[in-house]
This record gives sequence, structure tokens and C-alpha cells, in this order.
Amino acid sequence: MKLTADQVREFEETGYLFFPSLFRREEIDVLNGELPGIFAEDRQEVIREKGTTAPRSAFYVQTWNPAFAVLARHPRLVEPGIQLLGSDKLYMHQFKINAKAAFDGAVWQWHQDYATWHNDDDMPSPRAMNIALFLAEANEFNGPLMFIPGSHRNGRLEAGHDVSTTSYPLWTIDPATITRLVDEGGIVAPKGPSGSVLLFHGNMVHASGSNLTPWSRWIVYLSLNRCDNAIRRFQRPTWIANHDFTPIDMLADDCLIRFARERPRAAE
Ligand code: SIN
Ligand code: MN
Repeated sequence: MKLTADQVREFEETGYLFFPSLFRREEIDVLNGELPGIFAEDRQEVIREKGTTAPRSAFYVQTWNPAFAVLARHPRLVEPGIQLLGSDKLYMHQFKINAKAAFDGAVWQWHQDYATWHNDDDMPSPRAMNIALFLAEANEFNGPLMFIPGSHRNGRLEAGHDVSTTSYPLWTIDPATITRLVDEGGIVAPKGPSGSVLLFHGNMVHASGSNLTPWSRWIVYLSLNRCDNAIRRFQRPTWIANHDFTPIDMLADDCLIRFARERPRAAE
């Protein structure tokens, strides 16, 4: 998927782009059919919300689920990253499905992803970004992502390491800074049906609230990084901060449908 010059300008200005319903129902069905099995797995890559058994995130799924292995090479997700990051050699720094489960989904505090990538992984520069695909509807009630438009233009902001609020340690931004940034840029929460895609800059300040509704807000995230911007510290395990910098080899646009058609089925 090629972005227009106007879209590239909009990304540079606001730090994000939103494409409602970019994936078709049949494509999303291929992925969603895998989710119950993925979240039921008892393995280190599936982390639970603090104090509950509800899934929070499933990491590195592209290495242990064949449908998500295909998604990780999807041109509708990877090609915009190539264009916006200015290199055709990108690798997957992180790949995760966030469940934001019905009733139990907990907050993600205000943060920039590049703060964690810099502080924990020693990623040299913020030439990395997120591509998010909604696997379920994100609406005003179920904890949609919140962005402060234009906040990426402040560069990397001061952050503190929060290891207690949720089950996932995060470098978070203090309320006074968030108040100042929101005064300047406001808050947006892109909402839309499953199949929608949200691209955002590594320095975008973002957060999400808890989910008190019966509607899980599943989102899969590809965190793409330039191969020439690979991390230099390996304190986090490879399933959280990939130690494998192999460039992503994109598949064809119909890869998910083809995968579903061609995969071996259990004997009837
Ligand atoms: C994240 O910031 O990495 C996840 C936020 C969310 O899924 O709500
Ligand atoms: Mn984040």
C-alpha cells in the first residue's frame, strides 16, 4: 500500500494515520479464529493482567502461530513502514496482540514507545514505528488508544520506569508533562471496526484506559525498526525485544486469503 504525499505530510505533522476498514471481514476472520487458542496458551509469551488470569498481551506470535506469521509479512502493513521510515530493510522489533479483555482489560499509562526502546534496548534513534491492526471494534467505551496529536515532534521526553501499575513495566510520562502536551495538542482516540489500521510514530505520546465493557478490544501491533537502527542492548528477552534483525520479506496482498485456502485441514 503506497501512501500519498498528503498522507506522508499528515503523518509528519500529527504523528499518526488512520485507515478504517483496510482489511476485509474474510481476512480478519482468518486471524480471529486463532485468538482463543493463542490466549489460552500457558507460555511465557502470553502475559496476564495483574492479579487475574485475563490475557493482557501475547508476544512474538509471528514465531509460533502460522496465521500471524503471514500477517507479520503483509504488504498492507509493512509497506507504509518502509515508506515512512525511509528504508526497505526493516525488521520486527516487537510483535504483540493486546487483548484489552472484556471487563478485565487494564490501562496502558501515558508513554512513548521510543522511551522504552531507547532506555531498555539501546535503540540508536526513533526511526521505528507501530502499525496497529484492529481485530475487534475499538469504540468510545472499550479502551481505545488515545494520542496527543503532534506530541512526537517533542522528541524523547523524560520518563520514569513504572513497574507496579500493571503487569507490564513501562517508561511513563508524568501528569504535569501530559497536561502541558494536551493543552497544546488535545487528545484523539481513533475508533473504528475490526480491520482498521492505525500507524503511529515511535515518539507519539499515547495511552489507553481500562475496559469495563463486554467487548474485548483486540489489537495486533507490528513494531517495525530499520535494520540499520537495530538495538544494542539485549537485557530484554528476544520475545519482547527481538534480537533477530533479519529483514522482513513481504508477501502478496492476498496472502491471508491464500493461507486460509491452502492450509492443511484436519481430516474429516
Ligand atoms: C501500547 O502502548 O503498547 C499498547 C496500548 C494499547 O494497546 O492500548
Ligand atoms: Mn505503546
